[in-house]
Amino acid sequence: MRRFILAATILLSVACGKENPTIDEILLPAPMHSEYACGEFSFSNGVKIAIDAPEEERKKIELALSNDGIVGKESAKKEIKLLIKERVAGIDSPEGYRITITPELITAEATSGAGLFYAVQTIAQLRDTAGSIPCGTITDQPRFEYRGLMLDVSRHFFGKEYVKKQIDAIARYKINRLHLHLTDAAGWRVEIKQYPRLTQLAAWRSQQLWKDWWYGDRQYREEGAEDAHGGYYTQEDIREIVKYAADRYITIIPEIEMPAHSEEVLTAYPELSCTHEPYKQADFCVGNEATFEFLENVLTEIMELFPSEYIHIGGDEAGKASWGTCPLCTKRMKEEGLTNVNELQSYLIERVERFVNSKGRNIIGWDEILEGGLAPNATVMSWRGTDGGIKAVRAGHKAIMTPGEFCYLDSYQDAPHTQPQAFGGYLPIEKVYSYNPVPDSLSHQEAALIYGVQGNVWAEYIPTEQQNEHMIYPRILAIAEIGWSPQEKRDYTQFRTRALNAVKQLRKKGYNAFDLSSEYGNRPQSLATNNHLAKGKKVAYAPGSPYYPTYTAGGDSALTDGVHGGWNNSDKRWQGFIGRGGIDVCIDLDEELEIKSIAADFMQICEPGIYLPAEVEIAASADSSTFHTLANITHNVVRDDTLSFKSYGWEGNTKARYIRYRATRGKQGGFIFTDEIVIK
Ligand code: ACM
Repeated sequence: MRRFILAATILLSVACGKENPTIDEILLPAPMHSEYACGEFSFSNGVKIAIDAPEEERKKIELALSNDGIVGKESAKKEIKLLIKERVAGIDSPEGYRITITPELITAEATSGAGLFYAVQTIAQLRDTAGSIPCGTITDQPRFEYRGLMLDVSRHFFGKEYVKKQIDAIARYKINRLHLHLTDAAGWRVEIKQYPRLTQLAAWRSQQLWKDWWYGDRQYREEGAEDAHGGYYTQEDIREIVKYAADRYITIIPEIEMPAHSEEVLTAYPELSCTHEPYKQADFCVGNEATFEFLENVLTEIMELFPSEYIHIGGDEAGKASWGTCPLCTKRMKEEGLTNVNELQSYLIERVERFVNSKGRNIIGWDEILEGGLAPNATVMSWRGTDGGIKAVRAGHKAIMTPGEFCYLDSYQDAPHTQPQAFGGYLPIEKVYSYNPVPDSLSHQEAALIYGVQGNVWAEYIPTEQQNEHMIYPRILAIAEIGWSPQEKRDYTQFRTRALNAVKQLRKKGYNAFDLSSEYGNRPQSLATNNHLAKGKKVAYAPGSPYYPTYTAGGDSALTDGVHGGWNNSDKRWQGFIGRGGIDVCIDLDEELEIKSIAADFMQICEPGIYLPAEVEIAASADSSTFHTLANITHNVVRDDTLSFKSYGWEGNTKARYIRYRATRGKQGGFIFTDEIVIK
């Protein structure tokens, strides 16, 4: 059907003698519905502009138009009319709009300012690329209410002008939430009047680069000290950012981490930790009333600064280690009838939720907030896969889907050797685009609680604004389309053409978008099946060297299935071994064969603890009892920052039916990962 529509579109544009690319080849995110007519609306000789909307919305629409250089000229013949109406045919979302384009007149209608704003974005996008707007009608509205980008301004601080620049870009693609990860161990980034030490000390650290600091002394510094690195937004900065975003129909969602990721707070205010010592704890003491006083005071200032309905309270990755022995925490657990530390975390989240609700706001938390019982009105941000989101909607809560596998834009977007160092993993734009936030297993009612989707740009390995933009664009465009366009209209090949165009536009405007046109792609070995002598043959695993349940790569047949792994250690093609026995497998070739080479590739990526083997032994046998060694290979394993691959193999001439391949770990321990034992 889609092919038919595209063919019809092309035919129509040919029939109309139009050389411009059509709406479907430009607009990103793809609109819900578009129809074509002959002719085009050209901007040459200027346009008249008429806006019929309440004062506040009118001002924002005028601003949007003028930001795009569309300024009304009274004497012009052509006109753009923008109207807010009570009802617009075919639209039921306040963010939806309908545009009718004739050679002399563009009429844009919506039921709210947001809808008109998106109509302007559509007009501007088409004009930017095609120079004029093809005649026809666009009826458009979003699939999800929540379409977000998260910026981590803690691990590396990015100033307000940078944030505003990103707001401009994401608004163009109809993203409507900017989640700021404002607090974490690496630095507190927002001025709180009542707690000045948060910005006098906790916003500054001893090293500029997160990785030097995190693997170094992890010290904080007084503001103004010669070696203090960091920064923060003043309350004035925040007001400016919030207004800038609101003018572009983007809501800023502030995240204040609790109860964990709070080393910086607990160094500035150590009395809020279980041990009362600086530099010792990441988790707040939940038994101490002072913790709640602090959190409520901070949140009060945060809610004064950020009008967002939703306040993100973190909730992820609490170690909870000190809570089991802390006298105040154990007392609290006893008094509240809490049976474990997960319930103690939920006690904190629920109590904070009551406070936030009492101010007319709601909380969002990372999916760990489900673990000890979900706070009654909380929205869950599902990041450790999709289970958290599924559980949340089944319990009647809203969920925002941002599973790491698809939405963590700090992963490599292309072959790691072509990219700046990233956190790990391989997440090309095609994979981001393949994500559907509504899992198949949900009922219609549950699916309606999927609030939206978000791309997260964690910044541990992103020290500069340039690099941050490189990671955001163009992958956020995939998130934008996932969030906006009907699932049945999505098509990667078509999207890619539009994304390539968008990259050109972004780069023209001074964004350091990754040049998608030069994408290298996945590991070449992973792109085709490898037919070799061992393919499909049985592999026996020695009892002391099982593969790890999370990294089975499909199980016992994985090492002879002809399938090689890609750049990503978790692409389900790499088999992982964590035991002391390493890898010890025997392949039965079914009959004695002439063999000229035996080899296996290994991966090293130290952040998740995957190392190359220190020793490999390859041996052959005719009868599976007497083996003769073909090769003993040793390698000096050294921890590094890169993703690397190494083949350990033998070449020669032998005859054998059984091949034994053993690989052992170095003194670092950790995993060893291989994908295929290739015998030729
Ligand atoms: C997270 O990535 N820790 C939410």
